Amino acid sequence: MIKVSPSILSADFSNIAAGIKEIELSGADMVHMDVMDGMFVPNITFGQPMVAAVRKMTKLPLDVHLMIERPERYIEEFADAGADIIVAHVEATKHIHRVLQQIRLTGKKPGLALNPGTPIEVCFGLLNYVEMVLIMSVNPGFGGQKFIPESLIKARKLRDYSGNDLDIQFDGGVSSKNAKEIIAAGVNVLVSGSAFFNAPDKKAEVRALRGE
Ligand code: DX5
Ligand code: ZN
Repeated sequence: MIKVSPSILSADFSNIAAGIKEIELSGADMVHMDVMDGMFVPNITFGQPMVAAVRKMTKLPLDVHLMIERPERYIEEFADAGADIIVAHVEATKHIHRVLQQIRLTGKKPGLALNPGTPIEVCFGLLNYVEMVLIMSVNPGFGGQKFIPESLIKARKLRDYSGNDLDIQFDGGVSSKNAKEIIAAGVNVLVSGSAFFNAPDKKAEVRALRGE
């Protein structure tokens, strides 16, 4: 079963409620929220108040992608704000193992994210502590970038190693045009920002992303 997680980074920030409605009506599985701090990545987006606001708008799971330095400073706050999955970058902390346990302690699902330059093997010893591995298929920071095809090699390696229980998410440059090869590489959770919000028929886009 392929899950689709549209990213509100590409939604109209002056009307997030409308963006969330579009995600709900499209039949997508969750809402991807890109938190950026201007330090870990060059861009700044939003923080826990936005997660709390979106929490009031939908019952869909909130998939919160933390692109912030030292995420250990804010895990409990994002949990309290209503995140369901909290994803931390291995490159953003000296102690990713501890951060994953910190997320688990809040009762939320821990996810681990890897930049394109980070070898996939870094997550092999951490799989018992995560529900999902997010493989960045662009450099984090912006929507609408070009897909990095070498990410597919990382997905194949991870799926071979992990077996079928792990959620493997791709984030960046994903669309209905490349979804098929991404899914064939073992990925089962697709983030889609610009492709989803630019699609005239969002229901059809979600179906196409799932390969239906
Ligand atoms: C990039 C973000 C992505 C972004 C994807 O740093 O993590 O979630 O929204 O946008 P698209 O799908 O346009 O590449
Ligand atoms: Zn993201």
